[in-house]
Amino acid sequence: MCGIVGAVAKRNIVPVLVNGLLRLEYRGYDSAGLVVVHEGKLERVRSAGRVAELRQKSANTTGQLGIAHTRWATHGIPSERNAHPHMSRNLIAVVHNGIIENYEELRAELSEQGYEFTSDTDTEVIAHLVHSHYAQGNLLLATQTALSQLVGAYAIGVIAADNPQQLIAARKGSPLLLGVGEGENFVGSDMSALLQVTRNVVYLEEGDVVEVNLDSYRIFDEQGTEVQRPVQISELDNDSVELGEYKHYMQKEIHEQPQALANTLESVCNSQSLVPGIFGAEANSIFPKIESILILACGTSNHAGQVARYWLEEIAGIPCTVEIASEYRYRASVPNPNTLVVTISQSGETADTLAALNHAKATGHGYTLAICNVPESAIIRQSKLRLLTRAGPEIGVASTKAFTTQLAALFLLTLVMAKVRGRLDEKREQQFLHELRHLPAAMQKVLALEPQIAEMAKLFADKHHALFLGRGMHFPIAAEGALKLKEISYIHAEAYPAGELKHGPLALVDKDMPVVSVAPNDTLLEKLKSNLQEVRARGGELYVFADADTHIHASEGVHILQMPEHAGFLSPILHTAPLQLLAYYVALQKGTDVDKPRNLAKSVTVE
Ligand code: F6R
Repeated sequence: MCGIVGAVAKRNIVPVLVNGLLRLEYRGYDSAGLVVVHEGKLERVRSAGRVAELRQKSANTTGQLGIAHTRWATHGIPSERNAHPHMSRNLIAVVHNGIIENYEELRAELSEQGYEFTSDTDTEVIAHLVHSHYAQGNLLLATQTALSQLVGAYAIGVIAADNPQQLIAARKGSPLLLGVGEGENFVGSDMSALLQVTRNVVYLEEGDVVEVNLDSYRIFDEQGTEVQRPVQISELDNDSVELGEYKHYMQKEIHEQPQALANTLESVCNSQSLVPGIFGAEANSIFPKIESILILACGTSNHAGQVARYWLEEIAGIPCTVEIASEYRYRASVPNPNTLVVTISQSGETADTLAALNHAKATGHGYTLAICNVPESAIIRQSKLRLLTRAGPEIGVASTKAFTTQLAALFLLTLVMAKVRGRLDEKREQQFLHELRHLPAAMQKVLALEPQIAEMAKLFADKHHALFLGRGMHFPIAAEGALKLKEISYIHAEAYPAGELKHGPLALVDKDMPVVSVAPNDTLLEKLKSNLQEVRARGGELYVFADADTHIHASEGVHILQMPEHAGFLSPILHTAPLQLLAYYVALQKGTDVDKPRNLAKSVTVE
């Protein structure tokens, strides 16, 4: 989703803006632009292509104050005229992430006042609105007044041609942070954009407006009261956003899973027993009251929730429902105040998940827990309890290591809930802790299968459709495999619980339909084998990811990838990795933009 970078300094900040945008590329975008103040004038450069093109186009541009943007189109097609920054009468320039819901009526009013619109975006109204309030030359006040007229979500950066040392930024519903330098200051959508210039960061809160000057800044809350926010030192590792020896971030992030799992499980694996306190101090008093669990999430994070449902019901004996956040937020549901509402999100900024969380709270759910990868994100801040996945920054748009660490975190929730409910004796707890400690090494062994999977992927390159099958807690893993394949290789892929095949989708199976099956050695194995026979009998080509002891053997039309070991309840975590690698290598075969698949954004901060 859109990315913002802004800077005010005593040096030329164009390289800072461009490098910042390069760091934000992973969020997904279709056009880019920047504007600087140079000799009292706004100089704008925009490109309907990649940031690399913007870099070339802006090679001769210089300025000490500027804002820059990568746009992910919502209102108006991706094009240079719709790319940000948007300007008003060559005086005010604005970049914006989010959606202004009342832009049509504002546009009509501003047109009547004589403002000319040169784009189809909702953002342009912000530029003209600020301009209309700027008569007295107070950019902060003009921006605050303009913001009070907006309905919707925004993170914005605003500059004025006649105010060469000041930048105004604000956030509500979209992420933005302030980077504090020495004699220079910055804003950015996330820390990765600013690590090049500073580690000192102020996380702006909902409704904050900040006046950013060379040597100082002032923050105002939504009511306009000046407030202090703590300056924190970012712990983000600059290397973790570098590609290193890998071809793509997705490949790097798949291979980071053993370490990401170890980091996420660190505190638990080093201790002798599980305690509710890992979710926050209040968990000790809240967990014993919990009667059921409601999981809210989107996309891949929703798949993690679906796996957790099997664990929570079977191991902890607690009823669990999993809902797609974008549906739940508009549904009249029946709340139970003793339900624990669990949101799962890599970014912690997904608009639908955030809205679902707020909807749950508004309907009377007081107990909220966030499982999230970004410490200062909105979802973390708005939840009572939390467990951070420590996957490190995930740059590839297709989520990989965030998913498996979410699963690890949800398994911890399951075990703690089971313990609180008297369903986990000491022996079983130690056994599970032992299995968790072994998980990173087990994942490493699975990743060693990469060359075999790369070979298998070659057989998919000319296919247009694929079916993914799984049963029980591996059905969501099949769904995750299908999602990965469709989003990065653009092959149409659907997942079915294998038992559903004969109720319809079997009609699709022929020699051109690869059928991928997750085949762990569990209680459903024999049933799954029968389902696979049904496919083979219709000429379907099978790709079976089978545990070593399943006795499913390769034969004509049956390709087997043998998993190193069977991991019991943790098996879904290990069975994920080969499906991620399959999607990755199929995408390589097809030559798609693996890290930035078309039409998709990393952090979906609009509805
Ligand atoms: C798919 C993918 C998305 C996200 C979804 C939710 O690979 O990454 O489906 O899982 O947009 O995002 P988060 O987890 O940030 O809330």
